[in-house]
Amino acid sequence: MVVKAELHCHIEGAASPALVEAQAEKYGADVSAIIEGDSYVWSDFTSFLHAYDLASRLFRDEDDYALLAETYLADLASQDAIYSEFFISTDHAIAAGLTPEAYISGLAEGMRRAREATGIESRMIATGLRHEGPEGVERAARSIAANPHPLITGFGMAGDERMHRPADFAKAFEIARDAGLAITVHAGELSGAESVRGALDHLKPARIGHGVRAIEDPALVERLASDGVVLEVCPGSNISLGVFPSYAAHPFPKLRDAGVRVTLSSDDPPFFHTSLAQEYETARTWFGMDDEALMETTRTSIEAAFVDAQTRARLLSRLG
Ligand code: ADE
Ligand code: ZN
Repeated sequence: MVVKAELHCHIEGAASPALVEAQAEKYGADVSAIIEGDSYVWSDFTSFLHAYDLASRLFRDEDDYALLAETYLADLASQDAIYSEFFISTDHAIAAGLTPEAYISGLAEGMRRAREATGIESRMIATGLRHEGPEGVERAARSIAANPHPLITGFGMAGDERMHRPADFAKAFEIARDAGLAITVHAGELSGAESVRGALDHLKPARIGHGVRAIEDPALVERLASDGVVLEVCPGSNISLGVFPSYAAHPFPKLRDAGVRVTLSSDDPPFFHTSLAQEYETARTWFGMDDEALMETTRTSIEAAFVDAQTRARLLSRLG
């Protein structure tokens, strides 16, 4: 059995179409514009974000979010995962009518239930949305600094990477760092190597969400390897969103061979018809990884997890 761990999944993006349809029924809403059969309907990054935003509006109270976190984590545990770090977004909570406190407390309850039922450990990473601009991301950072929670251990930025420059967000990340949060940032997904370089220079993350387009610049790949920056790689997401034309063209093996610390995650699994187990299978099929190499990837994820030393040691001991 290959034990797994996930570092990069957006909780709103983990809601299955079936769960969103049940929520729509509960609230008397119509989701036919974003769900057809058992699939979300979108065609590019912008329409993906639109479907994602509309689906998230159907999680409107603490119980809805407890159910979402519990469902996602229990399913992940059934794929032999022992750990998950997932992104949360107070912007999405507020847009659905929740306070950040209710949102966080609902998610924490779902985490507690999943842990009790399956043993899966988890943490939350608060995020700001890049397309909301520097003020929006600063607002998200302040919101989390004002609502600290022991299970929120990181801060990051998701959203449309094609907007704004990394330097514009330095202040927001300073607020998060001062609040004691570890840092990851989406870069090198919709934009190229320069975006990754800018994120490293101005935001000083321990990890990069995606980062795969660093492959466009050999000097940057060397920098990632020598600085030990961990990449949260989500191959299925990259192929679905057209970041690379095929798994054969995906740079995961080249990055790994260059000594970059790469990990595997599912990003927004039902939107991309994937799962964490599927990502590990993809790595086996397309990236030439055997059980041992896959377990090493899990070890890298646990080593890079935003957890205290005792939790990390306990998780590492479960890898055998
Ligand atoms: N939010 C949810 N999924 C995302 C992705 N793949 N890139 C940027 N922001 C996101
Ligand atoms: Zn992501």
